This record gives sequence, C-alpha cells and structure tokens, in this order.
Amino acid sequence: MTHIQLSSKINKQISSLVITNKKAKWSELGFSKEEITYISKKIKQEDNFITINRFESLVFVQLIEEFEKKNEAAKYEAFRGIGNKVANTINVHKYESFQISTTEKLSYELLCVAEGAALGNYQFIKYLSSQKSEYTLKSILLIDKSISQSQVDEMNILVDAVYQARNLVNEPQNVINSVTFAKEMQKMGKAAGFKVEVLNKSQIESLKMGGLLAVNRGSVTPPTFTIMEYKPAKAINKKPFIIVGKGVVYDTGGLSLKPTPNSMDSMKCDMGGGAVACASMYAIAKAKLPYHVIALVPATDNRPGGDAYTPGDVITMYDGKTVEVLNTDAEGRMILADALAYAKKYNPELVVDFATLTGAAAAAIGHFGIVCMGTADEATKSSLKESGNRVHERLVEFPFWDEYAALIKSDIADMKNIGGPIGGAITAGKFLEKYIDYPWMHFDIAGPAFINSNDSYRPKMGTGVGVRLMFDFVKKLSSSEKTKK
Ligand code: BES
Ligand code: ZN
Ligand code: ZN
Repeated sequence: MTHIQLSSKINKQISSLVITNKKAKWSELGFSKEEITYISKKIKQEDNFITINRFESLVFVQLIEEFEKKNEAAKYEAFRGIGNKVANTINVHKYESFQISTTEKLSYELLCVAEGAALGNYQFIKYLSSQKSEYTLKSILLIDKSISQSQVDEMNILVDAVYQARNLVNEPQNVINSVTFAKEMQKMGKAAGFKVEVLNKSQIESLKMGGLLAVNRGSVTPPTFTIMEYKPAKAINKKPFIIVGKGVVYDTGGLSLKPTPNSMDSMKCDMGGGAVACASMYAIAKAKLPYHVIALVPATDNRPGGDAYTPGDVITMYDGKTVEVLNTDAEGRMILADALAYAKKYNPELVVDFATLTGAAAAAIGHFGIVCMGTADEATKSSLKESGNRVHERLVEFPFWDEYAALIKSDIADMKNIGGPIGGAITAGKFLEKYIDYPWMHFDIAGPAFINSNDSYRPKMGTGVGVRLMFDFVKKLSSSEKTKK
C-alpha cells in the first residue's frame, strides 16, 4: 500500500508539490532565479499547474486561484485529482516518494491530495507472472503543522480499506467464491478487531433463507451468510447501525442467462456491495470509531446448474413471504431480502444496503454517482448526501412512490421478482422495502462499482465505491451528540 506520513520539514532531495497562490514569495520558497522567471512566464500564460524538473527531483506548483469558483466538495475532489496526477508523474520518473506543502490554510485539502495520490496508485497485478510493478511511488509525505498524526493514521486506514474492497472485487470468481469470500471477511475481522460469524449451508437451511437458497440451487458451491459485528465498549449508539451487502460472487443470470461476452464480462463485480460492507467494517473498527456496527453479507454465485431455480418458481423467503420468480437474473433482491429480514432481529436504528442491483441504475446515471432510495428520515438522508458530496461518492435519490410497488404485484404470490419496463432500479428497491420494518436506505452501485477505464484516482476495474461514504457517515454519527439516546 502507498503510505501517507507526516514530515517536519521539506527535504530538498525529494520531489515536492507546493500549493500556493500567484503572489507567493517564490525565493523564500526556495526557487532559483531561473525557476522564478519560468514560473512568472507560466502564470502569464494562465497555467495553474507548473512542473519544474530539477534533474534529481521534480517540483510541482499548484496555484489555488484555479479553485476559486468551486464549492467546497468540488475543491476537495479537485485536490484528490491533483494528488493522482502528481503520483502518476512521480511513477513515470521512477521516484519513490514526494512531499506536499502549502503556504495556505489548507490542511484537509492536503490530506485530500495525499488520499488521491494513494488511491490512484492502486494496482491489481498479482496474476502477472512477472509480479513487477511499474509504479515506484511508496510514500507520500505531508508537511503541515496543522495536520495531526491521528488524521494521517485514519487516512491510511481508509486507503487500506478501499484497496481491500477493490481487491475483493477484482479477484475473479474462481478465487473469490461464496466460501473464500467469507474466509476473507474472517481475516479482515481478525486484522481490524471485529467479530465474524459465518453461517454455512445447513445453518442457512435451518433458518429457511429461501431467497439465498433459491439463487444458490444452480451452483456447485454452497452459500454463506456472514455476520460481522463491531461493538466497542464506548459505543455512543444503543441500537446498532447495520450495513448489508449483496454478495453475488458471479452473476451469469442463472437460467435467464445473460448474453456473453458483453454483460457477463464484469460480473465478478456482483459482490461489490458485500465488499463495501466488510471493508467499511474494517475501516470503522480499525479506526476505533465509537459506534456499534453490524454487517451482513449473503453470498452465492448465480448459475444455470441442473437444479437451478427457474422462472415461474414460487419461493418462500426467510420471513415467510412468497415470491414468484419471473427472471432468475433478478437474484440480488432475492438474497438481500433474506438479509434485510434477518436484520430486524437486531432492532437497528438504521440499515443501509449496498448492491450492484440493476442495470437500470447504471443506465440512469452511469458511474458518476450512487442511486439511492429508502425510508430513512430526512435528517439521515441529508447527512448521507452530505457525506456523499464530501467524499465524492455522490448520491442521487430516486422517487420511491407507492405506485411503483404496484408494478411488482404477482397473480399467485405476495410479489414477483421483476417489475415492468420502467423504473427498474426503483421496483428493485420496492421489492426490498417489503422486507424491512426499520429506517432504511438502499444504495444501488451497479454504475460506479466497476469501471472500464481510469477515472482520476479510481483506476479501472473495482472502485471500492461506498467505503469512503460509509466511513465518513459513521464518523459523523460517532461524534454527534444527538444520537446519544
Ligand atoms: N448484477 C445485475 C445488475 C448489474 C448490471 C450490475 C450491470 C452491474 C452492472 C443484476 O443481478 C441484474 O441482472 N439485474 C437485472 C434485473 C432485471 C432482470 C429485472 C437487470 O438490471 O437487468
Ligand atoms: Zn442478475
Ligand atoms: Zn446480480
């Protein structure tokens, strides 16, 4: 992992990013006469990002005037982008570190630069026989007295958690199946200090989790249901906060087979919600946030095996409700419904679920944000949206009117597992809503969980989207007085 650390003063030997303004006292900042002439020329050309090559190191100058018109959240994101840009250039020049300093009052922004550099420096190269990384950047030094060691520690934990979520998504299904996924979650629990219990197939059968078992019927690998719990002694909440994640380790569509090559290629990402759940637990527990959090991950693959569930089947779910299956590719809601119903037993204050649930959500907003909907109160929704803006995992709330529930009415069962041609993301949400009795928000990450080309500090493939959102949100909950009921 790319490590972020504090450093007390500038080291002339190492490459540097200096964030300053057009009127900076360049000579006091250590620039030579020639360099100052060059900088002045660049400023005249309205260049806000200036690179100086000192042969044994690089110096980047970022002028803050570029961000004057941006709102706070957009500024943070721009700083992460700069971090990624600098990291890329550092790698091209084969340096191992760079330092960040500023003449301005910008401590959180400096952390954002480091965050963008560290997150952008992620690679998934374990299957290359050479194992040789083209990236040389290993450490990022922050030089700013207003940044505390604990802020840096927390940022490293978060970057580590996002790397882990990305790794889990990027691992193919012949490595991460329902059983090995659960094992990975156990390892994460050990490393971060939270409890992990894995229910096996016979336990899932005794619990009568009909949705999870139905989806698993075409598979040769048994399902798992992983329960993670982090309960710190000084938790400020009485009722737990629960994160549920869709853990479909591979989605062929089942008998309602997806067309290959296009739509099946990236379906190893279908446990992206499960990766958010366990990686968020990892970050929250490792950072010792004083908050009681539980995560639930039902896991299976979805395949057209000999005993696969079929269109027309009527399934009795964990909570006793019946579902007429009309498309086996709408499997995510089947396994999530059981997990959401299971969550009731904890009497939670709030449940969120993350799922690569519908192509409709991806079609509506692409990878630029997360589609959300749910029954949480307005204050919770705005807090979530505020976190989404802050970490640039932006939320778009879809309508959740009752009329959409009518679209999943079945003639022979309590509901069917697909709606009609309209509102596919919403009818999926309406299906899930039938299994909750607590405040709840659903996050459909089908668009942003897996991308096919680099997007700033999100390298192509698994993005780990959702982890930074959850961490920021729980951090806020941990410090808010009003939750101390
Ligand atoms: N895993 C898919 C959704 C998906 C699509 C995730 C694209 C990531 C990228 C999900 O299980 C699915 O197949 N949904 C169907 C539902 C439909 C049959 C009602 C879809 O969206 O087409
Ligand atoms: Zn599917
Ligand atoms: Zn799926």
